[in-house]
Amino acid sequence: MKNLTSKKILFIICGGISAYKSLEIIRLLKKNNAEIKTILTKSAKEFVTPLSVASLSQGKVYEDLFSVENEAEMDHIALSRWADVIIVAPATANTISKLAQGNSDDLASTVILASNKQIFLAPAMNIRMWEHKSTKENLKNLRSYGYKLIGPIIGDMACGEYGEGKMSEPLDILNTIKTFLSEKLNNKKIKALVTAGPTNEYIDPVRYITNKSSGKQGYEIAKSLHKRGFDTTLISGPTNLEIFEDINLIKVETAEEMFKATQQNLPADIAVFSAAVSDFKIIKKDRKIKKQNNISISLEKNIDILNYVSNHNLMRPKLVIGFAAETNDLDQNAIAKLSNKNCDWILANDVSKANSGFNSDYNEITIYYKDNKKREKLSYKKKSELSEEIVDRIVSQIN
Ligand code: PMT
Repeated sequence: MKNLTSKKILFIICGGISAYKSLEIIRLLKKNNAEIKTILTKSAKEFVTPLSVASLSQGKVYEDLFSVENEAEMDHIALSRWADVIIVAPATANTISKLAQGNSDDLASTVILASNKQIFLAPAMNIRMWEHKSTKENLKNLRSYGYKLIGPIIGDMACGEYGEGKMSEPLDILNTIKTFLSEKLNNKKIKALVTAGPTNEYIDPVRYITNKSSGKQGYEIAKSLHKRGFDTTLISGPTNLEIFEDINLIKVETAEEMFKATQQNLPADIAVFSAAVSDFKIIKKDRKIKKQNNISISLEKNIDILNYVSNHNLMRPKLVIGFAAETNDLDQNAIAKLSNKNCDWILANDVSKANSGFNSDYNEITIYYKDNKKREKLSYKKKSELSEEIVDRIVSQIN
């Protein structure tokens, strides 16, 4: 991206000695024509002045004053929605800890907590603070929430020590933001469709067969695609989950409804089928079945949505990604699904383990690729983090 014209950057400065470098980042962003609004935390004002930031950024500077007037003038939700990207530089150990806990006791942390945008943290602190177990734990959590880190780097520190913890150079921070925004701009034209959650198959008007899918894995993938700029549609079976309002959410209940919604949302460039669609439907009774000693229900095969889409040549997305939920012979079954369902990738997960797969925040996924017959293991971690890793791979495949 040559310049950042029409890009909106919310810049948050925290109180650390490297806050002086933030002024240089702001100068570089401005030279690239970005529109900048800045928040100074209370302690940041000990290092840089609102006036110097306002002069360099030529934009509004919000100070960390919680007052009725401040709230009336600037709604923190609106400010977080306004930005294309949020940068926190320097991100101090204290701010990192607050964000990891989900605190919202000042303007900066409130805006960040309310944000649905990509947040970049450029940490800066003394090496001992950087290496402290609590900082490592906080960063692990922040990564799992989707925050991205720029640096820190190794070097001489203001405190006289040497090591890792020095804030990245302003030019490196600028280039990371430019790469992210240019990729996001490219992805805007790319349509992604995700299915998620279970389906309900009715036995009679009040009873149905379903499964344990919570929708978490699919929702996280849709969120990661959206954050990276993709024009994202999420077709979801019944779940209790919330999603960003600018993702096109289509709620369905049965496999048949999910199939129709999928058809209506083609063509797409990328399709990810993470829904646990019932393989069977029931020949539904129109009236509630009365209590009786024995009852038999007949099941008939449901349409396989993934199979339909991947074999529908005219509408086939460029990248078709299926899931395989397996309790045994993961390798063998995933490879069979890759070929039987004509997928480009299969993401296989073992659903026999507790605390992984269905209805858990965690998962472990092996990707099977059709083109090079390779497989790649993504280790056990939060579904949000796995989704970022999956979307990293989608981005490099599609561009
Ligand atoms: O929702 P969570 O609680 O977060 O759990 C995540 C998950 C375990 C549900 C998810 O990671 C997962 O494995 N999803 C696929 C579940 C599944 O139905 O797998 P399958 O192996 O039975 O189906 C293979 C593929 O065909 C899947 O991509 C599935 O979406 C698709 N399919 C299956 C049947 C059908 N009628 N239509 C389909 O499109």
